[in-house]
Amino acid sequence: MARVAVVTGGTRGIGEAISIALKDKGYKVAANYGGNDAVAAEFTKRTGIRAYKWDVSDFAQCQQGIKLIESDLGPVDVLVNNAGITRDGTMHKMTFEQWNQVIQTNLSSCFNMCRGVIEGMRARKFGRIVNIGSINGQAGQYGQVNYAAAKSGIHGFTKALAQEGASAGITVNAVAPGYIDTEMVRAVPPNVLEKIVARIPVGRLGKASEIARTVCFLVDDEGGFITGSTLSVNGGQHMY
Ligand code: CAA
Repeated sequence: MARVAVVTGGTRGIGEAISIALKDKGYKVAANYGGNDAVAAEFTKRTGIRAYKWDVSDFAQCQQGIKLIESDLGPVDVLVNNAGITRDGTMHKMTFEQWNQVIQTNLSSCFNMCRGVIEGMRARKFGRIVNIGSINGQAGQYGQVNYAAAKSGIHGFTKALAQEGASAGITVNAVAPGYIDTEMVRAVPPNVLEKIVARIPVGRLGKASEIARTVCFLVDDEGGFITGSTLSVNGGQHMY
């Protein structure tokens, strides 16, 4: 039986690449998305992967979304918490909304989603959870107090849940991407981005497919001894 995988923010950017890579590996994939219906419809048409719309920062919507996926595809074996946003700004200009939106969408979403699947995974004695962190959660980033705090929180969350899941066959790992060629990174002011790329030893932005293959490696059935780890995929920009 094919395993069921849920990817949050799974219709665009890094999430899209993860959804497609998992499907190519034979998983039954459900791609959650938050807002862009046109992109999601085009994604489903092109890939055959079903898209499910809800807001991952909302606990009740996450529980409903997971239930719907389970009734469509079966129990969730693999969860990839990928959905994330930026609301960059220096602290002295940042509003509470900018802070709160990023914390809720990037970090609370991990609780909302994991809470919805963890009991089933424990009962079935199998689970694979991958949380997408960030180089900026490891190293900090000017203008990203909110984002760095959320992503750093994801790294701690991962290590704590890994300890709880270990005896139940559930692995919990994080991937920490560096600067990947997606819409999110393209939104960084060009003069700032130029300086960032100059500091990447590999000399280029990463590709979403390079994150996707890392996720596939971690969720593999053979990956049972890899848990609580953070895999950095950043072109050597930050060696942690
Ligand atoms: N280090 C030190 N100083 C910096 C700096 C840096 N990294 N970046 C900017 N500054 C300085 C500027 O030189 C400028 O100084 P002066 O006034 O003395 O000239 C001052 O800070 C103000 O800079 P801005 O004019 O850029 O200020 P702003 O308020 O208009 O914008 C900002 C600030 C929103 C943080 C903007 O610089 C920005 O968007 N930076 C990019 C942040 C970033 O890297 N985000 C990552 C998004 S991608 C992502 O998050 C994915 C992932 O996981 C990697």
